[in-house]
Amino acid sequence: EKGGYEHYMRKEIHEQPEALRQTLAGRLDVDAGNVDLDVSFPPGFLADLEEIRIVACGTSYYAGRYAAQLFEELAGVRASVEIASEYEFGAGRTPDRTLVVAVTQSGETADTLGAIRRAKDAGARTFAVTNTLGSTVTREVDGTAFIRAGPEIGVAATKTFASQVATLAMLAVAVGRDRGALAASDARSVLEDLQGLPGAVQQVLDEEPQVREAAQAYQDSEAFFFVGRALGVPVALEGALKLKEISYDHAEGFAAGELKHGPLALVTPDTPVLAVLTDRSRGRETMNNVTEAQTRGAPALGCVSEDTEYDTLDVSFDVPDVGTVEPLVANVYLQLFAYHVANEKGRSIDKPRNLAKSVTVE
Ligand code: M6R
Repeated sequence: EKGGYEHYMRKEIHEQPEALRQTLAGRLDVDAGNVDLDVSFPPGFLADLEEIRIVACGTSYYAGRYAAQLFEELAGVRASVEIASEYEFGAGRTPDRTLVVAVTQSGETADTLGAIRRAKDAGARTFAVTNTLGSTVTREVDGTAFIRAGPEIGVAATKTFASQVATLAMLAVAVGRDRGALAASDARSVLEDLQGLPGAVQQVLDEEPQVREAAQAYQDSEAFFFVGRALGVPVALEGALKLKEISYDHAEGFAAGELKHGPLALVTPDTPVLAVLTDRSRGRETMNNVTEAQTRGAPALGCVSEDTEYDTLDVSFDVPDVGTVEPLVANVYLQLFAYHVANEKGRSIDKPRNLAKSVTVE
């Protein structure tokens, strides 16, 4: 049932092109620059929207952080993302002009359900982005978009992260178009990027031997730091979570600019830095921060847009140019890196110690 793969996680990493095709299937009208997610909001609701607040946990929270940037850029609406267990509606906000979006693969995460209930109590409109038909969250919210990634067995979320971000990107386009904040031509270019996503992810998967080699070279390091800027930040955070979750190694993600405000004190020749250096996530500026770490002896591995080169990197992974979703494609390298480090160490990859696939307690 693992289809020849030794772990579900690796199978699910490799299923991403197909999962993404399902996520996008029949939902894009590229020529018109429109998206059909089969969701409806009350007339005028989106036009009057003041704020989108995303609530989620773990990997879904990082998908939310990616999406919040897309909502601001594409839908012209203030967007924030909160860790569900920390979420409160807060004073001075306007419930009837707020959309609270739960991002949850399982649809059963207690912290996320708790946040949705607090949002509803405050009078906000609620929405869910989930993988699971009939899950609890779908019964509690005003509307749902399914990510259609197919079942995910590995505790580490992989293909569902990609499909969450793709679904949220479509939602951002849909909201932007409805509000008149996004021109058809700009929408078209984002939708073309999305269409290119499955093929771009496949190109990265074909590079797996190179990632495995890097994992073997650096697996015994003392700690791993992940950095990025803009859309590269959630990917760096997600890369660190994936590695710590399945390899049990110390891994931290940072906004690259923050390295010099503290974490740099931890950097040694034994702490590789993995960086998201794609063009549209401010790769050049990020590289400056990576250089600061290299000066302290740290090895540097980077995910770089295929038309760019940074000669000083110890390892460079090519990322196909798919614009807004380029950092999401870079994430596939980080998934493979985490997988191969953990595999070299013989970890229990599909069921890491102390963790459960679905966390139903607060
Ligand atoms: O089912 P959910 O998306 O609500 O789950 C949220 C987190 O528990 C989940 O993403 C967790 O962080 C993953 N194990 C990470 O790989």
